[in-house]
Amino acid sequence: MHTYRIAAIPGDGIGKEVVPAALEVLDAVAALHGGIAFRYDAFPWSCDYYLAHGKMMPDDGLRTLRDYDAIFLGAVGDPARVPDHVSLWGLLIAIRREFEQAINLRPAKLFRGLESPLRRPNDFDFVVVRENSEGEYSEIGGRIHKGADELAVQSAIFTRRGTEQAIRYAFELAGKRRGRVTSATKSNGIVHSMPFWDQVFREVGAEHPDIAASSAHVDALAAFLVTKPETFDVIVGSNLFGDILTDIGAAIMGGIGIAPAANLNVNGKYPSMFEPVHGSAPEIAGLGIANPIGQIWTAKLMLDHLGHQDMGAHLLQVVEDVTEAGLKTRDLGGSAPTLEVSREIVRRLQR
Ligand code: NAI
Ligand code: MG
Repeated sequence: MHTYRIAAIPGDGIGKEVVPAALEVLDAVAALHGGIAFRYDAFPWSCDYYLAHGKMMPDDGLRTLRDYDAIFLGAVGDPARVPDHVSLWGLLIAIRREFEQAINLRPAKLFRGLESPLRRPNDFDFVVVRENSEGEYSEIGGRIHKGADELAVQSAIFTRRGTEQAIRYAFELAGKRRGRVTSATKSNGIVHSMPFWDQVFREVGAEHPDIAASSAHVDALAAFLVTKPETFDVIVGSNLFGDILTDIGAAIMGGIGIAPAANLNVNGKYPSMFEPVHGSAPEIAGLGIANPIGQIWTAKLMLDHLGHQDMGAHLLQVVEDVTEAGLKTRDLGGSAPTLEVSREIVRRLQR
């Protein structure tokens, strides 16, 4: 029996509801398959913590998290009481940056029983590999002068290491999936960094002759995700492009409440962090009606990462059985509360 040590950070708002719900599901999968168990240590780091202590986590918070096998996070943010830049940068982004979680993995697929806003969705199932540490989201730049002379400069940073790492991860992932990688580029408009990105994509592609590689300009790619999402397997993009494309992924699945994400450390020095795409949804927090599927699918990504893809695949199948049976929270057009959905998943895993 191997016991994984998981740092659980429910955070704010609906994070406090969907994290415990997802952990019950995770325990049920582990018990069903056997051989592994989870030990959770819960940390109350959040906006409440900030209002009591003046910081989002203790000074030695990162040192505490370092030794865990993985971090399982709900959502951070309580904008009515703490400004978002304080809460997000004080916890979430601090963990992503310090723990070198350079890859953000965001799958999207058509679920049985869910309604996509696409009129005739074909059976799509793709993963976006988003570079998570540099690119357009850099702090390099500044502003100068006032009035008509005012000027702002923001520099995008593309290192060979960061670019290669994201692209290589995408090729390796495609090798375990349907063998296709599409690179999001914009080398017709961004004339330095994107040709560099394209060059690295070609170089890494040459090492993977078994993978079908192609590039598409990100604007066209955004349209294709609406008109023919079923043609994609793995999509790799820079920080900004990946961010935008994954919101399209969440939208065509039927809603942000089911979209999962993984922040992966691929150099093995620090733990990875698993968190859904959605935020703390303050307007429905405390009502017990949040959709737990985003957090539960995120638990599946954690199982995959820990090397238990069989359990992850089984879990996702059971989640789809439940949506197909019509048991859905309000955001998906149903009326089931959070725990009714998660406990039905647990019940089916125990059956
Ligand atoms: P949000 O994702 O919290 O909510 C957007 C919309 O989706 C709302 O209508 C909400 O009710 C709905 N929604 C989200 N998740 C849902 C779920 N599981 N079930 C049912 N409905 C769901 O984004 P918003 O409103 O922009 O941000 C709220 C707070 O969350 C802010 O403080 C923001 O900074 C923070 N945030 C945190 C993130 C994180 O921790 N990774 C990511 C995004 C936002
Ligand atoms: Mg986004």
